[in-house]
Amino acid sequence: MKLNDKLYKMINDQIKHELESAYIYYSMVSYFVAEGLDGMAQWMTAQAREEMLHAGKFFNFIGERGGKVELQNLKIIKTNWTSPLEAFQDALAHEEFITGKINDLMKVAIEVNDFPAKVLLDWFVSEQVEEEANVGKVVQTLARVGDSGNGLFMLDRELGQRVFTPPPAQGE
Ligand code: FEO
Repeated sequence: MKLNDKLYKMINDQIKHELESAYIYYSMVSYFVAEGLDGMAQWMTAQAREEMLHAGKFFNFIGERGGKVELQNLKIIKTNWTSPLEAFQDALAHEEFITGKINDLMKVAIEVNDFPAKVLLDWFVSEQVEEEANVGKVVQTLARVGDSGNGLFMLDRELGQRVFTPPPAQGE
């Protein structure tokens, strides 16, 4: 079934949003590295790599449905932050923005009865709940830590435990 034009355009735009998410998070990685917060840099690198996977899922979907992806310019939204808390607050606001986009996509997939798109988007709906919860938890902890250097050091160590696990290759 050919992709509905409106849904195609929204999915094509979503590839840009996901790639921009990776861009924003890599921008945060560079901020954390400069601040000597290697654990947060590691955490945010894993986050950025997940965003590349998200973009890839939408990219493949358009191809599988016989469409052609039209890539767009990416914006660098911000390159510096005044504190780790501000960076993670921005990450949370960005994830909320992405959740809104996924919900809009789901509304249109339902409207045009595109069941394969709905199956794809079901995964993203659950993923967004997880993403917001994970980032939200860090925001909450950072707010609690406040100016405590020791608290920040401990949290940085904890966040450095995050490992990016790539999905298994096809056929595995
Ligand atoms: Fe791909 Fe973090 O949303």
